[in-house]
Amino acid sequence: MCKYETAPADPAISDKERLRLINEPLLTWYHANARTLPWRENPKPYRVWISEIMLQQTRIEAVKPYFDRFMQALPEVADLAAVEDDRLMKLWEGLGYYNRARNLKKAAQQIVDEYGGEMPPRYQDLVKLPGIGSYTAGAIASIAFHEAVPAVDGNVLRVLSRVLVSREDILKQSTKKRMEAMLTETMPKQDAGSFNQGIMELGETICVPNGKPRCEVCPLGKLCLASRQSLTDEIPVKTPPKKRRCEKRTVCILECQDRIGLHKRENTGLLASLYELPNVIGHLKCEQLAEAFGLNPADILVCESLPEAKHIFSHVEWHMTGYRIRMKGELPKGYIAAGKDELKTIYPLPNAFGRYTKLIK
Ligand code: ADE
Repeated sequence: MCKYETAPADPAISDKERLRLINEPLLTWYHANARTLPWRENPKPYRVWISEIMLQQTRIEAVKPYFDRFMQALPEVADLAAVEDDRLMKLWEGLGYYNRARNLKKAAQQIVDEYGGEMPPRYQDLVKLPGIGSYTAGAIASIAFHEAVPAVDGNVLRVLSRVLVSREDILKQSTKKRMEAMLTETMPKQDAGSFNQGIMELGETICVPNGKPRCEVCPLGKLCLASRQSLTDEIPVKTPPKKRRCEKRTVCILECQDRIGLHKRENTGLLASLYELPNVIGHLKCEQLAEAFGLNPADILVCESLPEAKHIFSHVEWHMTGYRIRMKGELPKGYIAAGKDELKTIYPLPNAFGRYTKLIK
């Protein structure tokens, strides 16, 4: 009888002992089931880094086209270090969390200055770079450089808290730190990258975040205390995040001949330095909006109301209404007059305006 068939019957074994028992079945499962992914086929450190940052906000399938486009445009660290901000934002458009892209560029510049353009191989150096926290440093060090360090994200925390039937809040830093410390001792010293990716993959495909986990096909099923005790509905424990603030906004497609009026946002705060369709706080009527934008009523040819839309950021929700205003003459001062093709190729416009940019004909 193999080790992990007998041990789980004894819930008295320590957490660390239980974690040691997951190594072998997890690696066997991962090697038989790992999905083929572009950054796995060629796990160059730079590629692993970019993929991990993209995957922090977006599902694997959705990331693939962004990843391919990014790698084509910026194949080396030095290309990222030298890219113009607007081009970088355009490549990131649609992924959200634009500060992550800004940090990528800052870190790339540091890698060029301090490491001659090659990513440093050790966890302790990676974790000092902008935008690289313990999870990303662990993922790069283990997957690209085979260092035996953990990479603990939300998926991993869910799997581990179920295996150990831990009721610690997985949104707390202290829980993450404790899990990282235990894994550092118990994870396999060889094949650490597969071990880390195995737990992540298990969390994405079997021990899923929404809906019922597929315990019947889980390679850790026999070892997992939450599964054995039918507690997967209760575990993991997560304190509900604070309620988001709701903000009303009125958004405008401002058309003048063949051009669309855009505005560049401030270089700090939400969606810093990106471009936007002109918009104001509050739900305004067409005349109020025209006045807020300093438009001469005599220049307005059409003011058509557009559908409502909602966009959720991490701390705030925008509840939007919109208008299409078609004007004669010139756009007022302060607006960028963008050609319709340039909206696709040059100006990074955040997803928040997606409902309205789609309506630009
Ligand atoms: N989620 C984030 N990074 C991942 C990886 N390298 N493998 C599987 N799932 C992931």
